[in-house]
Amino acid sequence: MNIGIDKIGFFAPPYYVDMTKLAEARGVDPDKFTIGIGQDEMALAPVTQDAVTLAANAALQIIDEEDKEKIDLVLFGTESGIDHSKSAAVYVHNLLGLNPYARSVELKQACYSATAGIQMAKGHIALNPDSKVLVIGADIARYGLGTPGEATQGAGAVAMVISKDPKLLLLENDSTYFTNDIMDFWRPLYSENAYVDGKFSNEQYILFFNKVWEKYKERTGRTLADFAALCFHTPYTKMGWKALRTILEEGTEEVQEKLKANYQTSIRYNRRVGNIYTGSLYLSLLSLLEENDTIQAGEKIGLYSYGSGAVGEFFTGILQPDYKKYLHINRHEELFRSREEVSVEKYEEIFQNTLPSDGASIELESDNDPSPIYLSGIQDHKRIYVNRIR
Ligand code: HMG
Repeated sequence: MNIGIDKIGFFAPPYYVDMTKLAEARGVDPDKFTIGIGQDEMALAPVTQDAVTLAANAALQIIDEEDKEKIDLVLFGTESGIDHSKSAAVYVHNLLGLNPYARSVELKQACYSATAGIQMAKGHIALNPDSKVLVIGADIARYGLGTPGEATQGAGAVAMVISKDPKLLLLENDSTYFTNDIMDFWRPLYSENAYVDGKFSNEQYILFFNKVWEKYKERTGRTLADFAALCFHTPYTKMGWKALRTILEEGTEEVQEKLKANYQTSIRYNRRVGNIYTGSLYLSLLSLLEENDTIQAGEKIGLYSYGSGAVGEFFTGILQPDYKKYLHINRHEELFRSREEVSVEKYEEIFQNTLPSDGASIELESDNDPSPIYLSGIQDHKRIYVNRIR
């Protein structure tokens, strides 16, 4: 059976910071952020957007009435969970008005969990060919003001419908994966911000990539020449490039040029959003699908997923006929166009405006958040969400 990504939607919060201005405010050469790190803009979530609202807003764009009936599994990958017990997937299930006869679960393994969701979704569709699975990756990446990680923050979500006979990307069954218990990046339960061993995390990201790529070649006999493009988990856009260049010489000059050009296309959206952790690889895939003019149906795309701690996976998909027809390019152009740039001062204010951590109730000002779905407050320890368009 052919199983894969049938639909893909993306959402970013309504604010962003210009990386050149952030660099100037931090006394850093702007080229470090725009070239050395490879980021132009950083998406910023107001207090009225959390992992649940980002996810629901992304899914809202792609779910139609038939999907609402057929989705019987919601798999929500996030490391920005809002509750130790209740899964974020249950809130999203309700906000979207999905068929109640469904399973809804949150998955965690840093930036890897949406990929775990996709692989589990494939198994579910194989057993239940007429159902559909909603897989979401949504996160708010926070390292703290003035930290080395600050330039690699971001916020957003990617939602995908996985089904049989997919319209976008057929997922093949030859993925390779690797786990090792390391401390490159983590966020203890008591901390709003992530802890990170930056250089070590970069090294491990590349090491894991080399391991799964080598295993993939050994297992399948395929080479770089089999691929139209490789997409990477993108904590910042220079990172994927650092991994890609370790294997580029395995290809002819022509293959190298093609992969380099398509890598640039695959990071256009990420350059404007920053790290969205679980959704980052899929934002890169979306960027490639929507922005390229050269990749044809039938061509193969490689995807490298990495989640600190750490798990890495390399898997592949085949582009489906007329895939461009089923994308929402205009909607995403509008999403970027409608975002508001905020000054560095305003960013710091928004960043520090967090929810009460002592159990107090709060009513939030929603006038500054035009998103269809937002958090309106907390009452009796319960988050109150509003779907403006239901
Ligand atoms: P840093 O130490 O401040 O930066 O933080 P740096 O000194 O290494 O400089 C960065 C790059 O800019 C270097 O290039 C410099 O040469 C260059 P590179 O050597 O790396 O190619 N540079 C300049 N370029 C042009 N003009 C200039 C200039 N100055 C310097 N004037 C670091 C960088 C990434 C370590 C930091 O931002 C950080 O800790 N980020 C968070 C961790 C991270 O993103 N790790 C990525 C791999 S782990 C991962 O992907 C998992 C993750 O998504 C979490 C999860 O799984 O949940 C993070």
